[in-house]
Parts: sequence; structure tokens; C-alpha cells
Amino acid sequence: MPTLQTTVDGIKMSNPFVIGSGPPGTNGNVIGKAIEDGWGAVIIKTISLDASKVVNVAPRYARLRTEKSREIIGWQNIELISDRPFQVWVDELNRLKDKYPDGVVIASVMEEYHKDKWVEIIERVQATGVAGFELNFSCPHGLPERKMGAAMGQDNAIMHEVCGWATGVAKIPVWAKLTPNVTSIASSADAALSGGCHGVAAINTILCVMGVDLETLRPEPTVEGYTVPGGYSCTAVRPIALRMVKECAELIRDKFPGRSLSAIGGIESGKDAAQFILLGGDTVQVCTGVMKMGYGCVKGMKDELLNFMTKHKFETIEQFKGYSLQYFTTHADLVRRQAESKAAATARASGAVVKDGEWQSEAFVKQSDALARN
Ligand SMILES: Cc1cc2nc3c(=O)[nH]c(=O)nc-3n(C[C@H](O)[C@H](O)[C@H](O)COP(=O)(O)O)c2cc1C
Repeated sequence: MPTLQTTVDGIKMSNPFVIGSGPPGTNGNVIGKAIEDGWGAVIIKTISLDASKVVNVAPRYARLRTEKSREIIGWQNIELISDRPFQVWVDELNRLKDKYPDGVVIASVMEEYHKDKWVEIIERVQATGVAGFELNFSCPHGLPERKMGAAMGQDNAIMHEVCGWATGVAKIPVWAKLTPNVTSIASSADAALSGGCHGVAAINTILCVMGVDLETLRPEPTVEGYTVPGGYSCTAVRPIALRMVKECAELIRDKFPGRSLSAIGGIESGKDAAQFILLGGDTVQVCTGVMKMGYGCVKGMKDELLNFMTKHKFETIEQFKGYSLQYFTTHADLVRRQAESKAAATARASGAVVKDGEWQSEAFVKQSDALARN
């Protein structure tokens, strides 16, 4: 009987399904609901020391639907980090620890480029008993105007330094959440891991423009007639996320063995999760999927992942983590393999034996002839 139980950076989880930072982890009530519904861990909505600087607008989401079925496949948001006061969060995290001592709550935090602020937020949040930290270096809209979020994640030297500040005072695991809005996410992961982080999480949202209204000629989502590019998530980003997770996983395999990887981007089912784990994820995060389907969707996801494991006789997550990475190669190697395979097929078509195991007693003379020069 396979098990979904897993331990990542010393954090014990009943399963690898984690609520990704965003609206599904935005206050104590909904975090409690996620724990009760059986999520392996919950990452809270990103918090900072001074919430008074956080002012959201509405509407702040725009969705992309398929023409025929009207299914939502893409989701743009221009939402900022949490606008709830820091002390309210500290009190709530303390209460959650009392109410759910076994629930795994991970704090997503973000600050400006000041060592004192990063040290303060890590120390004060750590005292609440959270299981770990996720450093948000990746929010692509709004916060970069204040040199935070993706503005830090796009500067490897700064991210490396900030990871050092955070891990210098953290006594619990620290993950760096990376932005996909870079040329090489592996070099971002390298900066974070060499800066001391225990793991990386990828991806945050991809900077996008959802569309332009052909009646008003205004781009969406329109706020008083104007907009900003926002962060793209949901199933449409999954192939890009899979590629980026694969690149982070290869870096970890080759340069930082033992460090962890939390995979994110368009995950809505156990089959999606299996693919991210096959490409190296220790855990899988779901954000937009919960906004579409509700917290209960984790039940079906867990069943589906268990069915996949049973089918392939995998007993634990560890047994298939990164399994499919071995099947990536270079294009030149694909060409070589195809040429070899075609040559073997041509030889077989002429009746020639290509491998010794192909000799057959009834065709022995014919096979010998096919191999003869004259
Ligand atoms: C409305 C919304 C708000 C989000 N807020 C945050 C946030 O505060 N901090 C953060 O690190 N990521 C945030 N994210 C990004 C998600 O955690 C996740 O990285 C991204 O949406 C891709 O995963 P998904 O396709 O499962 O949503 C937000 C995403 C959405 C859709």
C-alpha cells in the first residue's frame, strides 16, 4: 500500500499537497479549513512588517476561458501581498499553532532591501511556531515598484545576500520562491541555494497582459480605465512551470543534492502533481486551483496520486521523485538515437539480425544469408 506521507527539510507532512501563497491562505479561518480538509501544508499569503503600504484595487483578476466549454485555463492577478496588519498575523499564527499543533503552516514573507527588516520579520514570525519560511522574491506586479518581490528575484546578487540574512537567523527551513520572469531560473535557484536556503519553490506567476477589450479598447483588468501587466497562473502555465521545475531539479541534483524543491504552476489534479514530482518536486503547491474548485479538491488529488503510485508500484514519493529527469537529453543526441534506430530497422527489414537475441531456429539459414557479404 503506497503512502503519501513525506518529510521535506525535516518537516513531516501527511501528503505533498501544499496550499500555495495567495487568497487560499489569507487568514486564520481559511488556513484552518485547509488543515481540516487534509492539505499537507499551508503557505500563508505573503506578509510584510508594514501592511499600511499595501493598497489593493478591484477588479484585480482577469480570467481566460476556452471558447467552447468556457473552462477557465488562465488567470491574471494584480493582487498585492496581504493588507492585514503584521500584529494581526502574528496573533493568528499563534492561535493556529494552539488549535492545530500538528498542522503545517509555512510563512511567506517579503521585505524591503534592509537587513534589519528581514531579520526582524524572520525572528518575530519564527516565534509563532511556524514550520518554515518561504521568501517571496517573485511577485511580478505592484511590489517591484517598491523594489520588492520579483525586483529582488531578478537580481541574483541581492537575492543571494537576502537569503543569507534570512537563513542567518532562521532556525527552521527556508525556501526561496523564484520568479519565472528571468532568462535562467536555474541561475536564480543557484543564487538562493548558495545563499543558504534549504530549498526553492517555483514558479510564481508569469508577467502577462490578459487581453484588450475590443469595444472600449482598454486592456484588462481595467481599473478606472487603466491597468498594469499582472501575474499569469492556472493550467495554461503548467508546461512552462514543468520546464522550469525540471531546470531547478537538475541544478539541485548536480550541485545541491539534498536540497528541496516545491513545484508550482497550474496543478489541479493528482496526475498534474505526479508529473511535477517525476520532474523533481518534493512537494506540489496549488493556488488558483483552490480558487476554482475549493479546499475539498485535495481529496480527489490525493486519491489520483495514490492510484498513479499503485499502478507503477511506487511505495513512496521519494521513489519516483525526479525519475523522469533521466529522459532529457540534447537535440543532437535525439538525432543520433533516431539515426541508430532507423539503421537497425532497415537492417531488420532485410532480414538481418541486429542483436544476438533475434536469432531464430526456424529462420536461422535465412538470417545467416542476410548477414553474408556474398
Ligand atoms: C490571486 C493570486 C494571489 C497570489 N498571491 C501571492 C502571494 O501573496 N505570494 C506569493 O508568493 N504568491 C502569490 N501568488 C502566486 C501563487 O502562489 C502561485 O505561485 C501561482 O499562482 C502559480 O500557481 P497556480 O497556477 O497553482 O496558481 C498568487 C496567485 C494568485 C492567483
